[in-house]
Amino acid sequence: MRVLFLAAEAVPFAKVGGLADVAGELPAALSSLGVEVRTVIPFHREIRDLQPRLERVVRLKIPTSSGTQLAELYEARLDNHKIYLIDGPAIQKATAVYDDPERDTEKFTFAAVAAMQCMQALDWRPDILHAHDWHASAAVVWLKYQRKRDEFWGRVSSLLTVHNLPYMGASARNVFDEYGLRMINDPLIPEWARDLPFPMGLSCADRISAVSPSYTREIQTPEFGSGLENLMRSRWQRLHGILNGIDVERWNPETDSTLPHTFGRKSLSFRKALKEHVQKKLKLPLDAHIPLISMVTRLDHQKGIDIGLAAMEKLEGPWQFVLLGAGNNELEAAAHQFSQRFKNRSSITLRFDTRLARLIFAGADMIMMPSRYEPCGLTQMIAMRYGCVPIAAATGGLRDTVMDIDQHKSGTGFTFEPAEVGPLKTALLRAISVYRDPRRWRGIQLRGMARDFSWETSALEYYKLYEISRAEVRSH
Ligand code: GLC
Repeated sequence: MRVLFLAAEAVPFAKVGGLADVAGELPAALSSLGVEVRTVIPFHREIRDLQPRLERVVRLKIPTSSGTQLAELYEARLDNHKIYLIDGPAIQKATAVYDDPERDTEKFTFAAVAAMQCMQALDWRPDILHAHDWHASAAVVWLKYQRKRDEFWGRVSSLLTVHNLPYMGASARNVFDEYGLRMINDPLIPEWARDLPFPMGLSCADRISAVSPSYTREIQTPEFGSGLENLMRSRWQRLHGILNGIDVERWNPETDSTLPHTFGRKSLSFRKALKEHVQKKLKLPLDAHIPLISMVTRLDHQKGIDIGLAAMEKLEGPWQFVLLGAGNNELEAAAHQFSQRFKNRSSITLRFDTRLARLIFAGADMIMMPSRYEPCGLTQMIAMRYGCVPIAAATGGLRDTVMDIDQHKSGTGFTFEPAEVGPLKTALLRAISVYRDPRRWRGIQLRGMARDFSWETSALEYYKLYEISRAEVRSH
């Protein structure tokens, strides 16, 4: 089984959000099942700056309406799969992984179309094109038409995975025209979205998946469907929900060398010292008994930072609060203001810092995730593995991974809905009252740490889906 992954970002080369973890880690898990995976991402400037050792394997002129465009493909070999970087003028122009939506649409459309043609130049034909999010959607459209024209692609089927539906790209009319791609005119797509890459990809992908079962249901409703709910509903038989995993080796408190002390289920008491480390490092009063509540997140409207801050403001009784993350300027300003108001009990760090993130997972008592929507969410899984108890909105993947202790005997956290200040505050109060009962609290931590969030289960489900898709194409 050969599978071609197309994504905007993938660890270890480029990482902005959770998509990078999935595109970087899932191929390794699939390889263990015997799947031959090749991943292509754009040769972003930040990768170029790292000067990785790469080999150029293809140099190709891509036909366009006004001549040709030079595409170059570089190969890097990871443990058990290959990752390629696609390069060309449209990619070199960009300054960041994500930039202005219009320029991004040009860049990612080029990357998608060029990646397909480079694979053909290498004479490597996948059984499945596994495209991720709007960025890779042009390849799905390209394949739909190319299959009819070119025997090489005749039996290849497509799977488009939704990691974040509201991000659909900008109008692709011009750039599609440039690369000879036909527009998909699907009446189920609302007028305003007809020329956007993601809706077109979702309309013509052979199969669609979303990154958790709950999110898969939600995107078929007006509340979470971003206007594409009718399209999604019409495709329900081709729509699958597969929960993401995490790399349980990369995220392992027993071996995490960035921590001052490692710990596991049998040495949970070491977390006390780690909590002290967090307090010291973030200049908070040392106090073993005060609930230390954290947020580690991209500062994006989606993540409900404002809801979290407002709930903290209203929370009576002693608490400490730490926030780590960067992103949206307004949210950064709001967080900064909050820290000014609660000087002695909060600490806000406005940057990406994986080392500090790991220390927070290991030392904080709780992690808050008041996401307005959350296709899957990886942070709650990592936090649970580190004994940090999640307080999460019951939406998308959070609903599927955080079991509320009042609803499940084997509960691993606290959930609330809707994602609003009142319900969050109630959940925080519930959590703090259980926190006062150390034996019960320990039970929650231990159950979270014992949950299996490894990639194996997900990889097996993708494998089954690939098999179904392959059988379908054969029987055409
Ligand atoms: C996006 C989603 C997040 C998901 C990740 C990986 O970043 O917002 O919920 O975990 O993709 O699928």
